[in-house]
Amino acid sequence: MSEVKFYMSESMPLELHKVRVVQKLNLVPIERRYNAIQEAGFNTFRLGTQDVFLDMLTDSGTNAMSDNQIAAMFQADDAYAGSQSFVRLHRAVEEVLGKKYLLPVHQGRAAENVICKAFVKKGDLIPMNYHFTTALAHILESGAKIEELLHDDALQIKSENPFKGNIDIQKLVACIEKHGTDKIPFIRMEASTNLIGGQPFSIANLMDVRRVADKYGIMLVLDASLLGENAYLVKQREKEWAENTMADIMKMMTNLADLVYFSARKLSSSRGGGICTNRKDIYQKMEALIPLYEGFLTYGGMSVREIEAMAVGLHETLDETMISQSPQFIKYFVEQLTRLGIPVVTPAGVLGCHIDAMAFCDHIPQTEYPAGALAAAYYFISGIRGMERGTISSVRDENGVELLADVELLRLAVPRRVFTLSQINYAIDRLRWLFDNRQLIGGLKFVYEPPVLRFFMGGLEPTSDWLEKLLVKFKKDFGNSL
Ligand code: F0G
Repeated sequence: MSEVKFYMSESMPLELHKVRVVQKLNLVPIERRYNAIQEAGFNTFRLGTQDVFLDMLTDSGTNAMSDNQIAAMFQADDAYAGSQSFVRLHRAVEEVLGKKYLLPVHQGRAAENVICKAFVKKGDLIPMNYHFTTALAHILESGAKIEELLHDDALQIKSENPFKGNIDIQKLVACIEKHGTDKIPFIRMEASTNLIGGQPFSIANLMDVRRVADKYGIMLVLDASLLGENAYLVKQREKEWAENTMADIMKMMTNLADLVYFSARKLSSSRGGGICTNRKDIYQKMEALIPLYEGFLTYGGMSVREIEAMAVGLHETLDETMISQSPQFIKYFVEQLTRLGIPVVTPAGVLGCHIDAMAFCDHIPQTEYPAGALAAAYYFISGIRGMERGTISSVRDENGVELLADVELLRLAVPRRVFTLSQINYAIDRLRWLFDNRQLIGGLKFVYEPPVLRFFMGGLEPTSDWLEKLLVKFKKDFGNSL
């Protein structure tokens, strides 16, 4: 157990690491942020980091690396084929994830591409707990559809359900009975369900999904990008597993799946990805696609240096004092915001703190993208870059009709061991000010809308002069403060 209780005050997160390399940050004046957000088309993906103070866009590839990861990078074996770096990664995958076949890919969505190319055909249906943007895009690209089978209360923002990421087993069975096993190449379970606020599933639920998969002879695919955090929350919240090690819990989860894939940008605090399995038939269906789309089978489009960091990072995922740091900061963040009456997804999940933009900006219609507007406004008044996870991150249907997202969230990512508690307190302070002035925030509309994954590069503009109004109020309240 990695929690430390305090004698003099309430418990708070305590950093169980020290800082040995630092990177200077810039908090540019609000006048510059006024121009920057407009130049970025009100899309935080398009901001340059020279204008960003705390980068809470994502934890993807931004977790702090350990000294041992950096050290391992120096022993990288730069061979096109047969690299010993890959041998070390392969061994780590066997030891940590318990799978003997490994296909390397350049990142998580590359794994999704390969899996879809190998297993998904036009007219198929993939049942899942919930989609992730890139997984959905690849499935749609293959001419297939998805069905999301969370329990009805999983999308409630305020909740005490410890496992909002669970699949509703009755819905899963009904879905399979309705569509037939021929149309269902696999069931997809996502660890720490990203888009509903980093919410875990329980091992009991995954075991039930396994039973259904066995009964109908359907493959079970696990997106393990956020597996370490899911395992940590299982240990915290599922009493049968409280005394087990992180290693036991991670292995238990991967053992239940036929195919496991991951973004190493998250799972192992490095950059890259992988697909692994114990079934030779599954491996062989994908093997030829790796040299075609990614690179040779011993690097898969990754730098060998990153492969070394990935091998060490996978082992470090089992260290509870490491994996607990981000969830503990997020818990603190969520508790403070709840205390201030700021609407936030509960229970606190992983990856980041998720603000309920639909409630925060209840005066902005969903068609004017409240989460996108909140992300832009928050950057403007704080220099903190969060990510819209709402309708802008959604898609249009085959008739071009916009599908309004189930939830409108502003995600403030807390990458592993990157921020200090005073930086989190600054983030809370500026959110409080924005909440008190929320009526000044207005809507957005698209001026440039790419056809696929539009949230990455799309451009928007405000529906009124609300940025100017926020500027005036900020100056009035903060004077010359940055
Ligand atoms: N699956 C999950 C659950 C993810 O969170 C991500 C990425 C991917 C797959 C795709 O992996 O980026 O390496 O291609 N999530 C990032 C995020 C982008 O910001 O949450 P990738």
